[in-house]
This record gives sequence, structure tokens and C-alpha cells, in this order.
Amino acid sequence: MVVSEAYAHLHPSIRHLADEDQAARIRRIRTDRWIGYARAELALGALDDLLSFPKRTRMPNLLVVGPTNNGKTMIVEKFRRAHPLREACETPGGMASIPVLKVQMPPGPDECRFFGAILDALGMPHAPHGRVAAKQDAALRVLRDTGVRVLVIDELHNLLSGSALQQRRLLNLLRWLGNELQIALVGVGTAEALRAIRSDDQLANRFEPFPLPLWDDDDGFRRLLSTLEAVLPLRRASGLAEPAIASRILAGSEGVLGEIVSMVVRAAVMAISSGVEAITMRTLDGAGFVRPSERRRVAI
Ligand SMILES: Nc1ncnc2c1ncn2[C@@H]1O[C@H](COP(=O)(O)OP(=O)(O)OP(=O)(O)O)[C@@H](O)[C@H]1O
Ligand SMILES: [Mg+2]
Repeated sequence: MVVSEAYAHLHPSIRHLADEDQAARIRRIRTDRWIGYARAELALGALDDLLSFPKRTRMPNLLVVGPTNNGKTMIVEKFRRAHPLREACETPGGMASIPVLKVQMPPGPDECRFFGAILDALGMPHAPHGRVAAKQDAALRVLRDTGVRVLVIDELHNLLSGSALQQRRLLNLLRWLGNELQIALVGVGTAEALRAIRSDDQLANRFEPFPLPLWDDDDGFRRLLSTLEAVLPLRRASGLAEPAIASRILAGSEGVLGEIVSMVVRAAVMAISSGVEAITMRTLDGAGFVRPSERRRVAI
């Protein structure tokens, strides 16, 4: 019989899972989970600050910026889940309350699509080709009525897929929206998003960039690997933070968080199905993980 107390390499809340059979553990390992790391906690703290900021004419805004697949959306989703909607029947005023609203900047954006995205996120029906003014009025009314305090705009770099004129109009609109409703805006996107914001001087000094850079071979990276190891129910310790394995993972993932997680997850599945029960250099080599830059080359 396996004694779960023996799994000292696992987080105490995970140890009992190591006794489950292979199929159940593989399913668990493949399920998305939130892994806390220092930079994400800092970002969540900065987002919470925005939420508690008193209304004033000039609200502070944040721009979460980093390479693709590097954890930006996961952070804003975690923030949104921490401040969920309250139904009308639960609030004293009898109006639903939505402290944090998250939308995506539509590709090829114009005012009509942008307000359409806001109405969709608010669960409001609207005609796709209806008039801009009607959508704007409806969106503003519901944003006010539901007490939205932070508007998160993911995929902000999609701004750049519009014409120069459209870009300018939308940047003006963002500035106007923040002032009019006195809400904080959180942009989320790649370096291109930063470029778009910086093309407007007035927006540039309202948005504080919060960079989420690629991962480097440092203490933070090794802590991330240790945290990952502690939540994946393998029966033996892997020592992912040891220098040789850590640099293998960093090289294979090219420092991208999504790639780090997916590489370790694939290796963990192999470790279970092969019966080795630990991630080793051999498991990493055998997991058939292709570096992101090579994958892109193959795709061309
Ligand atoms: N905090 C986290 N805990 C666990 N896994 C994470 C975390 N952050 C990111 N990941 C992993 O990385 C993947 C990519 O994350 P995410 O979708 O947030 O990236 P992104 O920066 O928004 O990318 P894009 O710019 O392409 O939208 C996730 O699907 C998940 O597997
Ligand atoms: Mg994203």
C-alpha cells in the first residue's frame, strides 16, 4: 500500500492525489490550474489598487504587456473571478453590480464593434449592424447602472489592425470613456499594444505599463518550477529546479510561460504512463516537445 505522507515533494493538499490511478492523475495534470508567481501576484495587487481607487476626473490606467502565451489573460481572468458579478436580487439598490468587466478588442475594430463587444460582455442583446449612437448610449447606460469600476480590454493590440483613422478614433474613444465614466481602464496586449497607446501622448501618460517579460534563468524561474512540481501528483520527486533540468526547460520553452507549463505537463504525463513517476532529462527529451520558434518555422 502507498503511504501518502511519504510524498514530501508534493504540496500537502495534493499528496493524497498521488495514490490515484494513472488515468485519474493524467486527467488532473492536463486540467488548467492557476500557479501563483511573484510577478503575477504583483500584477493582481496593482489591479486591486485600481479597483479601490476613488472616482476622480483623471483615473489611473494599467497596461499589462508581454509576449504572446505568457500569462497575461490568466492574470486578468483571475482578477475578474476575484470580483464577481452580484445579481440584482443580492444588491441593496436592486441593480446587478459588475465591478470588473472584461472585453476583447475586436479585430479590425471600429466604434460599432467595440461597443458591441461591451454589450456582449454585459449580456445585452443588440443588433450587429445597429447604429453606433444607439449602441454607445446603451453601453454607457449599462456600464453606469451596473457600477463597472474597471474595464479590462484584452487583445488591445488588435487596435493596430484598423486603419490609421480608425486607430485614432478608438484611442480618442478610450480616453473619453475613462473620463466620462470615471472608471479605470486595463489594457492587455503585446508590445504592439504599448506602441498603439504610445502613439497618443495623452493616453501614454495615463497608462502605466506593467511588463510581463519572458522568463530567465533566475530564482523566480526556479521557484516557478518548484511550485509546478509540487502540484503535479507524481509519486517521485523530479527536482525540476535543479540547474540541468531547469536550463533544459528554459531552453525548450524559450522562456515563454505557456510553453514552460505545457512542456512540464507533457513530461509529467509521460512520467506517469511510463511508470517512471518523475520528470527526468530522458522524459523531457522523450516527450516530443518542439520549441515554439521551430514550430513556427514548420508552420510556414
Ligand atoms: N498563472 C498561471 N498558472 C498556470 N498556468 C499558466 C499561468 N499563466 C499562464 N499559464 C499557461 O500559459 C498559457 C498562456 O497563458 P495566457 O493565455 O494567459 O497568455 P497570454 O499572455 O494572454 O497570451 P496571448 O497574448 O496569446 O493572448 C495558459 O493557457 C496556461 O497554460
Ligand atoms: Mg491572452
